[in-house]
Amino acid sequence: MANTILVGAQWGDEGKGKIIDVLTESSDIVVRSQGGANAGHTVIVGDKKFVLHLIPSGILRPDKICVIGNGVVIDPLSLLEEIDQLKQMKVKVGSNLMISETAHVVFPYHQELDGIREKNKGKNKIGTTKRGIGPAYGDKAARVGLRMIDLIIPDRLEARLKIRIRENNAVIKAWGGKPLSFNKVLADYTEAGKRLKPFVKNTVVYLHHALQDKKNILFEGAQGTFLDIDHGTYPYVTSSNTTAGGACTGSGVPPHRMDRVLGVMKAYTTRVGEGPMPTQNQEVGDLLHGMGREYGATTGRARRCGWFDSVITRHAAMVNGFDELAITNLDGLDTCEKIQVCTGYRVGRVKFDYLPNDIEALALCEPIYQEFPGWQTSTEKCASWKQLPTKARQYLKAITELTTGKLRIVSIGPDRAQTIFV
Ligand code: IMP
Repeated sequence: MANTILVGAQWGDEGKGKIIDVLTESSDIVVRSQGGANAGHTVIVGDKKFVLHLIPSGILRPDKICVIGNGVVIDPLSLLEEIDQLKQMKVKVGSNLMISETAHVVFPYHQELDGIREKNKGKNKIGTTKRGIGPAYGDKAARVGLRMIDLIIPDRLEARLKIRIRENNAVIKAWGGKPLSFNKVLADYTEAGKRLKPFVKNTVVYLHHALQDKKNILFEGAQGTFLDIDHGTYPYVTSSNTTAGGACTGSGVPPHRMDRVLGVMKAYTTRVGEGPMPTQNQEVGDLLHGMGREYGATTGRARRCGWFDSVITRHAAMVNGFDELAITNLDGLDTCEKIQVCTGYRVGRVKFDYLPNDIEALALCEPIYQEFPGWQTSTEKCASWKQLPTKARQYLKAITELTTGKLRIVSIGPDRAQTIFV
């Protein structure tokens, strides 16, 4: 397998965790290059369910190397919790995990500020995961953040943290929040730094040696295209580049070393948090929630659900340059009598087939639907493309064509075995 960038084509939660897990088999190294503990990648292996937030899903295969790249923001306490949980479940976490020295650190003041800002926004809140992601990336851009290299040098951590806590406590107090104890944060983070030190490496140099050795690298995207800070539905986005370019800047691997971009999309649309979603539909939500699906892996929130929106996936194909597509959760539509696909938008009498940049214009968009007949039979046990019902294949072909790209993978359930290679 060549070097592959895997990206979500919608608003996150496209089922990337499972596809990454399947593709990891033919990769040597799996790299996370953006986001933080806001992500939640669910992987089911046999009777075990793993939810990974910061560690690449490659960790579940002991012979793979996992890299948390420079573009990720790391909450060390959450990372250690994840490491401990994996170890408890008998997953190897040692020399197979590397953390970039230059990845930025998330501190409790980032989380506190995340909560305060959301509260202050009132009804205009973003609906963040409250993991401190926005404030941590804000510090990075403002050049006041601490990086993993600073976390593992105790004197440096102490000196820099003192300044950061003083500045942030002033803001927290002004907004009526709870100021943080410097001693407590220092003690927790010094201890975390000590435990994480063996994993902290110059990952750019490591990845370049791996490229020279012709290793196969999989770049696992977190969140989705429309949560991208530049290309998403701003301001209802996360604070990193979730699109394909983020894999390069967030890992130090140059664009010309990437061989393919794989877009992952659900057979329908979901979104968590606030912001416009033209195809949101109560009936689809009731159906999926009734099946016990579409609840967030990180926050447990019920996801907003709707019909497949090809306007957004086509835009995602443009921004990311999808060579190939993986379509997940096809089985979620198994019982539908009729399935709608959004092919364009309408505002009043004006019709168009592209995504408006103005969020207020997007909020006014009504979907234009094309109707497809449902297959009304279970796809969960289909083992090949041919075994899929004809109507399901027609549906998959249609949404692939509307998006653009080659359909490579269809996922029909959470298990590794429920994967069809087209
Ligand atoms: P933040 O990344 O916590 O700042 O949240 C910003 C927006 O991105 C919110 O709408 C979140 O619900 C959404 N978000 C963040 N991470 C994920 C994810 O992994 N899946 C889906 N939505 C996410």
